[in-house]
Amino acid sequence: MTRETWATRIGFILAAVGSAVGLGNIWRFPWVTAENGGSAFLVVYLGIVLLVGVPGLLAEFVIGRRSNRSPAGALRSLSGSDAWGAWGLFYVGTAVALLSFYSVVGGWILRYFVESGLALAGTEPAYFASPGQYFGGVAAGFDAVGFHVLFLALTGIIVFAGVRRGIELGTKVMMPAVLVLLVALAGWAATQSGAAEAYAFYLRFDLSVIRQNFFGVLGPAAGQALFTLSLGAGTMVTYASYVGEDRSLAFDGTTIAVLNTLVGVLAGLVVFPLLFSLGISPGETGTGAGALFVGLAGAFSQLPGGTLIATAFFAVVALAALSSSISILEIPVAFLVDEYDVERRTAVAGVGALVVVTGSVCALDQSIFGFVAGTLVDVLLTAGLTAFLVFVGWVMGRDALEEFRAGAGEVATALSTPWLFAAGALLPVFLVFTLLTTFG
Ligand code: PHE
Ligand code: NA
Repeated sequence: MTRETWATRIGFILAAVGSAVGLGNIWRFPWVTAENGGSAFLVVYLGIVLLVGVPGLLAEFVIGRRSNRSPAGALRSLSGSDAWGAWGLFYVGTAVALLSFYSVVGGWILRYFVESGLALAGTEPAYFASPGQYFGGVAAGFDAVGFHVLFLALTGIIVFAGVRRGIELGTKVMMPAVLVLLVALAGWAATQSGAAEAYAFYLRFDLSVIRQNFFGVLGPAAGQALFTLSLGAGTMVTYASYVGEDRSLAFDGTTIAVLNTLVGVLAGLVVFPLLFSLGISPGETGTGAGALFVGLAGAFSQLPGGTLIATAFFAVVALAALSSSISILEIPVAFLVDEYDVERRTAVAGVGALVVVTGSVCALDQSIFGFVAGTLVDVLLTAGLTAFLVFVGWVMGRDALEEFRAGAGEVATALSTPWLFAAGALLPVFLVFTLLTTFG
């Protein structure tokens, strides 16, 4: 069977944006920014996105488009070495780990979306009464397992439908919806009483955190940059492997990084005014799950029209999460299809069955969930991207330059040699360094 390609250029860009824009932008980015000095952190973060994120993204793109294979096959066929091929299995493992926690959180989101939507008929969503206690139930036991399986099933259906009819079509619908809803929500949030105070808090230019502990900020900024751009897992290798034509990967990559950052900033412009208008201090809600499911859910319950706002908000998060989870599932599925000629539907069913189990473990055990979602994913992504960069710099070398330049404009072509040098030498050192600082 001939391997699929994207039908359109915008299709590839939207699929990659769909992968990048996800829970990372909404439940992590605004809080990390607010806690680390607002717009001062934003400057450091943008620097890292530009100097580490975009070159890393391009390394994955170059490997994928050059080989037309998902990571394992790509590394083996481009290097001719079985050792690199074996390292490729690492990405299959990363994908399973990622999806195991991502689909659990996706399940929680789905539940809040469904409950808010059903309540539009006039009643109040169940979580309005006592958000903290309610979330405790959602995040535990068979409730959590059930919605995890439901979210995974939705993910599987899209991936099963294929690259064009599933992923491309799906993200072409989902991503514009996410952007439009988010802009609308931000506009609405701007009219709330706490808006000015919220912006001042969120975007204040405060250098003190960075000055006090620069390396303490560098680690989270780098970790966030990798996670949010879907780097180090092989998603972007896999998506680029379906690019059938020469066009500027540098341009596409920059566009993807810009849109991803925009969504993160926008998410902050939605969540902070909501919290501030009700006098909830963002510090009180903590980050991550507490912020979203307890802090914000509580805010919705007190706002006029809160059910509608909650429905729109959880729709945004659910679509963003779904368009990311399909990109994670596609890694092992493409591996089985490419390397073992497994039928797509069998591959989806097989990987799906495995993640039903591994995800349920995460859903039922908080400490395993915390470990996988935190340390494990950070380490896997950093190690994974480091290996891709080393591969591009030391194994592909000139081939990588040629692939980078195919379809590139003047500016990108001029930057191709510095890019290769950074990929092969500077960035791996930087990434290993951030990994070491994270562990003391
Ligand atoms: N970028 C996604 C997010 O921000 C997460 C992700 C990581 C997706 C790695 C694919 C691969 O939520
Ligand atoms: Na993201």
